[in-house]
Amino acid sequence: MIREGRLVWGGCDAAGLAERFGTPLYVIDEALVREKIAELRRSFLDRWSDTQAVYAGKAFLPLAMCALVASEGLGLDMVSGGEIHAARAAGFPMERGYFHGNSKTEAELEFALDAGVGRIVVDGIMELDLLRSIAERKGRPADILIRVAPGVDAHTHKYVITGHTGSKFGVPLTDDSLARSVELCMSSKGLRLHGFHFHVGSQIRENTSHLLAVDILMEHMNELRKILGFETKELNVGGGFGVAYLPDERTPDIASFTDPLMERIGVGCAEFGMPRPKVIIEPGRWLVSEAGITLYRVTTVKKIPGIVTHVGVDGGMTDNPRPALYGAKYSALLAERADAPSGGKVSIVGKCCESGDILAEGVELPEPRRGDILAVLNTGAYTFSMANNYNMTPRPAVIFVRDGKVDVVVQRQTYDDLIRGQSIPDFVSGRNPAGPASL
Ligand SMILES: Cc1ncc(COP(=O)(O)O)c(C=O)c1O
Repeated sequence: MIREGRLVWGGCDAAGLAERFGTPLYVIDEALVREKIAELRRSFLDRWSDTQAVYAGKAFLPLAMCALVASEGLGLDMVSGGEIHAARAAGFPMERGYFHGNSKTEAELEFALDAGVGRIVVDGIMELDLLRSIAERKGRPADILIRVAPGVDAHTHKYVITGHTGSKFGVPLTDDSLARSVELCMSSKGLRLHGFHFHVGSQIRENTSHLLAVDILMEHMNELRKILGFETKELNVGGGFGVAYLPDERTPDIASFTDPLMERIGVGCAEFGMPRPKVIIEPGRWLVSEAGITLYRVTTVKKIPGIVTHVGVDGGMTDNPRPALYGAKYSALLAERADAPSGGKVSIVGKCCESGDILAEGVELPEPRRGDILAVLNTGAYTFSMANNYNMTPRPAVIFVRDGKVDVVVQRQTYDDLIRGQSIPDFVSGRNPAGPASL
């Protein structure tokens, strides 16, 4: 919100937050996240019986976010041992957890099983076999879904399509792998198969790929029922619901996906004479992206006449790798001159030693000055969670704001954090002339 020309986020003056907590700074309006969850409840959970919403933690998963999601009654999609650990540390009820991943380690599968994660989403027949042996050895059956690659191309960047034929994710439908997987589950005491999962991709703003995938899945569910007598109790249709990053875009309502999906599933099940399974969705970005902004300080302005004006900031691809990774677009404004007239188009560039470290191009800004606070909008998803320490850059702090209240939920890394755990062997420093101990 802009008040008297200044950007206000969660009731707090953005430039004031930058001054108090330093930059770069991730700022999440907690109330906006809860509003999104309320919309999800109104449009999906309360509208359709036997449904569940699961937050995809990969989008943004500090402990405070785990606690928020837990308090709202949602499930949690986790994709690594580290995410399971974080969720446990935050007291997240593990029975509402989903453990995903195309390349899970044996240790992670054991960890998920021991932690009591509600559903392990098995990604392939080899993993299925491994999980079966772990579960049988432990005498603790695993409750699972099987992830399927429906062979659908989503309209999004190729790095975030996941459901196409040839994808590294899921069991392909091009041969009999799915039927063999289901048979394996039905013959094992260690595996309790509840149904299937697919995820077509991320940042998708039209519902066609989800609908196509659901049609394909229902055909297979019907086949498996006829041939093996397996009845699908749960169908997880993944996430991927997009948001508007640029001023001329619009974030779709969640109902523009879920209404047609539910209708399609209802009709398909009736046609095949199957009971409708419980339907689960897994939004990440849609829930958290728009609640977040990142604040930077302008360090330099470099005008190359007739070509470009570079506005350098004190962060970049380390706190937000998405533009460098897959050309993601962002909009930005100056926090203290938020509605001042544009002085022309600029490129907002990061401080890393990469020419591709550009946060946003062609952004209309008032004449930028060194020391200005610049806000990049819509950065709640896949920024903090993808942040890295390239060029020995400390990760920024994360703060939650709400109605003028502020709390630091992740401390800014220090230079000491960057070298923690490192050591210099004696044979490098020359301190021990006897040389290294041999193995
Ligand atoms: C299995 C699965 N579910 C859900 C999501 C969430 O996607 P999004 O944040 O686009 O909603 C992802 C993201 O890649 C995913 O891989």
